[in-house]
Amino acid sequence: MGLLKDKVVIVTGGAQGIGLCAAQRFAEEGAAVAIWDFNSEKGVDAESQLKEKGHDVRFQQVNVTDMQSVKTAVESLFAETGKIDVLVNNAGITRDASLLKMTEEQWQQVLDVNLGGVFHCTRAVAPIMVEQTSGCIINTSSVVGLYGNFGQTNYVATKSGVIGMTKVWARELGRKGIRVNAVAPGFIATEMVDTIPGKVIEQIVGKTPLARMGDPEDIANAYVFLSSELAGFITGTVLSVDGGLVL
Ligand code: NAI
Repeated sequence: MGLLKDKVVIVTGGAQGIGLCAAQRFAEEGAAVAIWDFNSEKGVDAESQLKEKGHDVRFQQVNVTDMQSVKTAVESLFAETGKIDVLVNNAGITRDASLLKMTEEQWQQVLDVNLGGVFHCTRAVAPIMVEQTSGCIINTSSVVGLYGNFGQTNYVATKSGVIGMTKVWARELGRKGIRVNAVAPGFIATEMVDTIPGKVIEQIVGKTPLARMGDPEDIANAYVFLSSELAGFITGTVLSVDGGLVL
């Protein structure tokens, strides 16, 4: 282990689910991890849970939809660590409804977190990485961002959008020593998919060549790989981690 020894890593949405698992995996690889989440109760819990295991982790309450909140967190982390090596834009929400039922509020909430949040965090961290001439940014897309999905106009728009942003930033920042990639998870067993009916989950598993739901570790391992030197010549790509599922 030690793929990310002494690296400083930010994981947004790190208080639970895939983000929490990723925070642990990064820490196991030797990184100092900042968990950014707006849920302070779960964030504090996550911090103490990982600290008990001996990991170098700090929780910062951040609302990624709010540029000022993001800037304040970047400044305080940078003051402590003097560098930022990896940003994982993992925070995301769903507010599902078919097109004919989707409200303006559902549309806007999802755009604010899943697109606005990714922009704010990257906009605030990238200047530090440019100054360092090194860094790695990972954006969390989704299998539905590649293929579409019933009832997810807002979510799919954002998850396709982050693929576009990934490709723009890979072009803009590559010569400055910064790699930018996206991960497109399939259906992963977290709270986010708890609302999906059991029958639908069965159908999804039925269409998955590897015949199971994904675990948070499957995605966390992809984040670790793309952040590490093992992926030193990979940028602008979308890594599908979905057991072979094609919707
Ligand atoms: P989750 O719902 O378990 O966790 C999301 C975390 O983001 C929560 O801790 C929440 O408090 C935080 N968050 C939400 N809004 C925030 C904000 N404004 N500022 C800061 N933090 C905020 O979700 P899960 O399943 O762990 O998903 C992680 C990422 O993976 C998301 O981007 C999601 O869209 C994506 N994804 C998940 C899939 C799944 O099947 N679970 C499939 C494909 C993509």
